[in-house]
Amino acid sequence: MIMKAIIVTPGKAGATLADIPDTPDTGIVKVRTLHTGICGTDREIYAGKLGITRVEKGQTLVLGHEAIGVVESAPSKSGFELGQIVVPMVRRPGGCVNCLKGRQDYCTDGNFTEAGIRGKDGFMREHFYERPEFLIKVGDPSNASICTLTEPTKNIMKILEAINLVAKRSLSDLSNGMAGKNVWIFGTGAEGLLAAAVFKDAGANIMIVNRRPASNAERTIISGIGAGFFNSSTDDWTAALKSTPMEIALDMVGVPEIFEVAIKELSRNGIIVLFGTGGQGKSMQLDGSAIIHMVDKNATVVGCEDGARKHYEEAVEFLERCNAKYGLSNIITGHYTSSNLSVLEKKGGGEIKSVIDW
Ligand code: BGC
Ligand code: ZN
Repeated sequence: MIMKAIIVTPGKAGATLADIPDTPDTGIVKVRTLHTGICGTDREIYAGKLGITRVEKGQTLVLGHEAIGVVESAPSKSGFELGQIVVPMVRRPGGCVNCLKGRQDYCTDGNFTEAGIRGKDGFMREHFYERPEFLIKVGDPSNASICTLTEPTKNIMKILEAINLVAKRSLSDLSNGMAGKNVWIFGTGAEGLLAAAVFKDAGANIMIVNRRPASNAERTIISGIGAGFFNSSTDDWTAALKSTPMEIALDMVGVPEIFEVAIKELSRNGIIVLFGTGGQGKSMQLDGSAIIHMVDKNATVVGCEDGARKHYEEAVEFLERCNAKYGLSNIITGHYTSSNLSVLEKKGGGEIKSVIDW
């Protein structure tokens, strides 16, 4: 048997829709792919620019790490039944202490693999075979489309966990968690908007900054969430810091200017989370007063990537419960067929999240 798959050659630009062998793997769950999301990581791999890209075997890698599918067959006692909607995990454990405990998101030696990114074929194909421990169940099949956003949302759930851990440094934060906290989010990509919704749901006040006006879809989501929005190219957004101090900053973009401003404007016991990675090639200058400011303010900088199984489960729970409440389905701005490979080239105007339907 054969199936269609989108494959890439690490280090080479472009992708191909190819026929690859569909080799049944007995003993594990067979999943038919429904949708795969496209993110910046996929586009860097497509451009041949993501240095960490590695094949699983042979010369090519099946692309795709954001997926949702439906179980087509499952061994008895696997805990999965025909028709179950599932989301596969991206990262697979290596042998370190954290990996062995299911926290490969905090792998200590780098010997993990990631589907569609490094060392494991991804999900942009008609079927995949998966071990039950790497599949997350979606409750209501009618939520399959919105739960395509589970993988990007799990990153936000880990950020929330990390902030709650750090906030324990200052006792006052321990007592009421995120309630009433001011969270400033830089960037309005899918991750920025999902962060806005997740933190709003956790009780925070949300302020979003971008250096351009919000698109129509972005505006709909931002107002659905009830967040403030500033276009930093035209608005004096720092004036709002007087009434809404920057207690938590989430950099979902990764350019040095954001880090510089966050260090300067962060309030006492503040936390800066670095998630975006879009700043390659751009430099920054930090003078000693920035360090004094950070010391004096008990500031914490948290780098954060990936997430564990529980974060996927929290993501599914959140998306199923909050889709209608915050208008989250507006995040998915386009559906494409697998033969339309040009969507992998670059982010389109007005795009938040493009999805390939299988
Ligand atoms: C995924 C993460 C992954 C990271 C780096 C992101 O797009 O969401 O799970 O760890 O890429 O490979
Ligand atoms: Zn991604």
